[in-house]
Amino acid sequence: MATKEDMKMTDLPKKADAKGVLYVGIDLGTSRTSVAASNGVRETVYSFVGYPKDVVAKKLLKKDALFGKEAVEKRLSLDLYRPFEKGIIKFSNEETSSVTPEQAQKQMQAAKDLVRHALGIVKSRKDELIYGVIGSPARASIKNKEQILEAARGMLDAGMICSEPFAVGYGLDLLEDTLVIDIGAGTVDLCRMHGTLPAEEDQITLTTAGDWLDQQLYTLFKRKAPKADFTIHQVKDIKEKYAFVTDSAEPVRVELIQNGLPTVFDLTEEIREGCRKIVPPIVQAIHQLVSTFDPDFQKKLRDNVLLGGGGSQMIGLGRVLEEAMRKMLGSGRVTQVEEPTYAGANGALKMAHDMPEEYWKRLS
Ligand SMILES: Nc1ncnc2c1ncn2[C@@H]1O[C@H](COP(=O)(O)OP(=O)(O)OP(=O)(O)O)[C@@H](O)[C@H]1O
Ligand SMILES: [Mg+2]
Repeated sequence: MATKEDMKMTDLPKKADAKGVLYVGIDLGTSRTSVAASNGVRETVYSFVGYPKDVVAKKLLKKDALFGKEAVEKRLSLDLYRPFEKGIIKFSNEETSSVTPEQAQKQMQAAKDLVRHALGIVKSRKDELIYGVIGSPARASIKNKEQILEAARGMLDAGMICSEPFAVGYGLDLLEDTLVIDIGAGTVDLCRMHGTLPAEEDQITLTTAGDWLDQQLYTLFKRKAPKADFTIHQVKDIKEKYAFVTDSAEPVRVELIQNGLPTVFDLTEEIREGCRKIVPPIVQAIHQLVSTFDPDFQKKLRDNVLLGGGGSQMIGLGRVLEEAMRKMLGSGRVTQVEEPTYAGANGALKMAHDMPEEYWKRLS
C-alpha cells in the first residue's frame, strides 16, 4: 500500500475458516529487519543471510542458513547476502540488469529465508492466519512491491505493502500536517501526512542514506590517514559511535592500524564534514514537499517534521535541519521518534489491525 492508486487489493483468505488472525508489522530494512506482532512479540535482526560455502563450512556451522549478527560473525565460511539493499530485493531492478538470473534467484531465496526467519520469531499458532503489513521505501516501484510480496508468499496468508515513513506516522497517530523523514541505511524516505493515504507526490525516496554516508566517510578517512588499514565495517562502527553535524563537538580520536601498529587519528573534522553531506538532499526534499503543499497548511507541516530511522540518531541533526529550514522556508520544527528501531514495524502492525479486507492480497 504505497499510494492511493495501487492500494486496493483483493482475494483474501476467509478469516472465518481459521481460529483467528495474527497481525504482523514487518520492516524489511537494508540493515535491520524488525517485526511487531499482535501476540506481543517484537524482534529485530540484522538483515543478513549466509549459507555455508562448502562441506567443511557446513560441518563446522551445523546449519543450512545463518541469520543476522551470527551470519556476519561467521562470514568467512558463508556466502553472505543482504537481500533488502535499499529496501528492495537486490538485483531486481532494471538498472542492475547485468546480474544473471541465477544471482537474482539467489537473492530472492535469501529474501524469502529472511522473511521466514523473521516470521519464525513471531511464533504464530498453527491454526492462525497471518496477515502482514510490510514496509517499503516510499517510492518503491510497483515491480519492487510485487517482489517484496513474492518474498513473503507462502509465509503470510495475506499481505500488504505500505510506505515506511507513512507507517511511522500512522503508528504514532500523526495522520495529518506532519512530515515524516525516515533515515535508513539504504534510503531516506519522506512522506507528508495530510489525513488520507499518501499519493506519489506526497513522498520522496533518496539514496543518500547511511550506506552512502559510510562511503563518504571512508573517502574522508582515507584522505586523513592514507596509510592506515580499515574497512567500511569499521567506518560504520565509528559513525554509529560518534556521528554529529554540529559546529562544536568533543574531539573524536580513533585508533586505526597503520604499518601493523595501532595509531590514533583525530577524525573530528572528517566526521563533521561527512555527516553534514546527508543534510542538503534532505533539506531539498523537505522544500519540495512543503512548497507544493496547500498554502494554508504549509506552516503546520514545516513545524511538524518527525525524524526516524537509525540515521536520525546523529547528534545535532534535528537542530541543523531546523536552521536550514529557517533559511529556506522561514521556519521549521523537528522532533525525533522515541523508538527508531520499532517505529516502522509498530506502525505497520497498527495498519494491519485497521485495514479492511479489500486492501489485502492473498499470499497463501
Ligand atoms: N548513532 C548513529 N548515528 C548515525 N547513524 C546511525 C547511528 N546508529 C545507526 N545508524 C545508521 O542507521 C542506519 C540503519 O538505520 P535503520 O535500521 O533505520 O535502517 P534500515 O531500516 O535497515 O534501512 P532502510 O530503511 O534504508 O532499508 C545504518 O546506516 C546505521 O549505520
Ligand atoms: Mg528502514
